[in-house]
Amino acid sequence: MVRGKLILIEGLDRTGKSTQCENVVNALGNDAVLIKFPDRTTKIGQLINQYLTDKDFELPAQSIHLLFSANRWELKEEIHSMLKAGKHVVLDRYVYSGVAYSAAKGIQGMDISWCFNPDKGLLKPDLTLFFSNSSNMRDREGFGEERYEKVEFQRQVRDTFFNVFDQIKDSNRIVIDVSDKSIDEVFSEIKPLIHDVINKELGECVY
Ligand code: TYD
Ligand code: MG
Repeated sequence: MVRGKLILIEGLDRTGKSTQCENVVNALGNDAVLIKFPDRTTKIGQLINQYLTDKDFELPAQSIHLLFSANRWELKEEIHSMLKAGKHVVLDRYVYSGVAYSAAKGIQGMDISWCFNPDKGLLKPDLTLFFSNSSNMRDREGFGEERYEKVEFQRQVRDTFFNVFDQIKDSNRIVIDVSDKSIDEVFSEIKPLIHDVINKELGECVY
């Protein structure tokens, strides 16, 4: 059995990540599954959801960071099994979001390397597409309701993502500038990249 491929779509808020994840999964048909992080359905995910949606629910930055990572660890075996069974797994956010959002807080001691440590040993994507938008941050309906949905913080996260890319080398990562592009235009751009990775023969994928 040829293993499935692990494909990650990362990016800033309002760059169309979730829409493209759906497009990719639909294009791959029965051979693909979508997993979104944080997975808010698990016990740990419910805590994360409360932290994101309830401004009175405070946690130390280190604690919430480790919960986001723990949420990925909870699903590691499930993802691994699906890959081994030949399914392609499409991830909507993953380790890079984990590192960038936490490190962007600028808390002493919580640098990129500290933030990345708990994720070491997780499965490493065969392809990462990072959606970047350089131009105006258009507002999305409901934006601003959750923690982190603030223009100033998003700017810091954006800069931090690129610092993370400097520190965590990954030749399977591609930055896609989605500024002023339609959903269809972005999908046309990523389709051949997905096609290539699906048809490649690859070894194990671990960080
Ligand atoms: P998500 O549900 O993907 O929200 P959106 O629909 O806006 O993309 O993610 C919720 C928030 O959690 C988002 O602001 C990014 C943040 N986040 C972290 O801080 N750490 C993480 O490890 C992950 C996966 C997300
Ligand atoms: Mg959000």
